[in-house]
Amino acid sequence: MAVDPVELRHAMANLAGSVNVVCCRAYDQDHAMTATAVASVSLDPPLVLFCVAHTSRFWEAVSATDQWTISILADTGRPDAEWLATKGRPLERQLDRVEHQRTEQGIAVLSESLTWLECRTFSQTTAGDHDIVVGEVDRAVVNAGEQPLVYWRARYTSLSEPGSVSAGNQ
Ligand SMILES: Cc1cc2nc3c(=O)[nH]c(=O)nc-3n(C[C@H](O)[C@H](O)[C@H](O)COP(=O)(O)O)c2cc1C
Repeated sequence: MAVDPVELRHAMANLAGSVNVVCCRAYDQDHAMTATAVASVSLDPPLVLFCVAHTSRFWEAVSATDQWTISILADTGRPDAEWLATKGRPLERQLDRVEHQRTEQGIAVLSESLTWLECRTFSQTTAGDHDIVVGEVDRAVVNAGEQPLVYWRARYTSLSEPGSVSAGNQ
């Protein structure tokens, strides 16, 4: 018998992860979502993945395009992560309060990041209540940030100040 979902969430809260923001453009507007379910997959070809819940608006948006970015946040990007994880925030102008640049394709990448990746969808597979979206990386840019933003036990923290944690919102 499968584990209870609440137990699984509690157990998996011990999986410390870097905090990322995935962005795309669809239906003539920006879409962006905070995501910890991000992984490096392959070097040849260069592939990465993220997982997106079917309940998120980002799922619909990324399903309507084949281009997207991942910004791996620096610890200075916590306000951006909190905002882009806020359920029900207005989509229109949601990036106005987020410092960002645009790729040649016009997709946002966050300034408070260590690295950003420009990706094209390689495959998209349903896995339970999420999709696993695998992307071929066209460009990887190492940015100015120094320390990663980390999420662990439902709290944001940083490697530079491992003792300083405060309540998260997932
Ligand atoms: C730290 C953190 C990590 C998250 N990681 C993911 C993730 O990997 N995949 C996902 O679908 N949602 C994740 N979420 C939830 C989304 O960020 C949240 O549901 C967001 O509001 C979705 O935005 P949208 O409805 O505009 O797409 C995470 C939330 C937090 C706080």
